[in-house]
Amino acid sequence: MSATVTVTALPSTVVEPASLHLIAGDTKKEEYPALQPFEHVDAGSRALHHPNPRSFLANSNVVEMTPEFGLDVRGCNLAELNPDQKDQLALEVARRGVVVFREQQDFIDRGAGFYTEWARHFGPLHVHPTSGHPEGHHEVHLVYKDAKSKFKTDSITSTLWHSDCSFELQPAGLTTFFLLAQPKTGGDTLYSSQVLNFRSLSPIMQDFFAHAQSDAHGHWQFALEAGWYALYVNKQFTRRIVGMKVEESELLLNFLYDHIAKSNDHQVRIKWEPMTMVLWDNRITAHTATYDYSHMKVLRHGARISAQAERPIPALSTMKMED
Ligand SMILES: [Fe+2]
Repeated sequence: MSATVTVTALPSTVVEPASLHLIAGDTKKEEYPALQPFEHVDAGSRALHHPNPRSFLANSNVVEMTPEFGLDVRGCNLAELNPDQKDQLALEVARRGVVVFREQQDFIDRGAGFYTEWARHFGPLHVHPTSGHPEGHHEVHLVYKDAKSKFKTDSITSTLWHSDCSFELQPAGLTTFFLLAQPKTGGDTLYSSQVLNFRSLSPIMQDFFAHAQSDAHGHWQFALEAGWYALYVNKQFTRRIVGMKVEESELLLNFLYDHIAKSNDHQVRIKWEPMTMVLWDNRITAHTATYDYSHMKVLRHGARISAQAERPIPALSTMKMED
């Protein structure tokens, strides 16, 4: 963020005991300094030449959610990973886009101080400019809906594809999210691979968008350590393609939003069974919440911790069309 912001925390609410350690603090106003620029070194890049960069999954049951996007993992305790294994984790999340880890009670039970210490391995932690947070842990972004919550009702769907905080100069990269309480069913999160969304365009369109920049803050694609490229555009934050007339920009942005929304061959849908943690690479994926549980008047309470990454790189400076 580019300026000091004022945050009002969520009001305290009575919840189940399991969630109590992640209730937002009181409603006092807090101010945070502007985020500072830094040189990002990707944790995943340190595992690129690892002799076995998936050894952290050696004792796990790993299911590929689709051929190229998403993994669903059982039997890997994220809380116990050592620094080398965390580097492998970052590379795996970059390569698969989103990775679901089940049975993470050990991690979740350790509390906010542990979460932030654990996540700092991947970069400086993002402070959300408007979200509530647990007392003393402003880097933990809380997601909270209960019986009193109001949901938007003026749209036919809650679908809103986006990547988190893409307005920042150095937006979030590796992002960790989990729930402490959730409805029995509903509230699924959908993810879309912006690598596959880009790759499925014709070479002519790829070339065109490699030359385009948006005002969200710059660039449409960036290179991963693995040399991949991703669309970096979303309806929530992108407003205009720089240098285009309004109508031209709207036409092309709407084409991309439509492409992202309807390409279910590039998507996965995650169900939140208890003690699930989801890690995604926010640079190369989009996601959307689902508010199909809004009428159920139940608690859905989660926490997100995001490590900032590099400033998106203009595709023009790195791209070879044969990649
Ligand atoms: Fe989000």
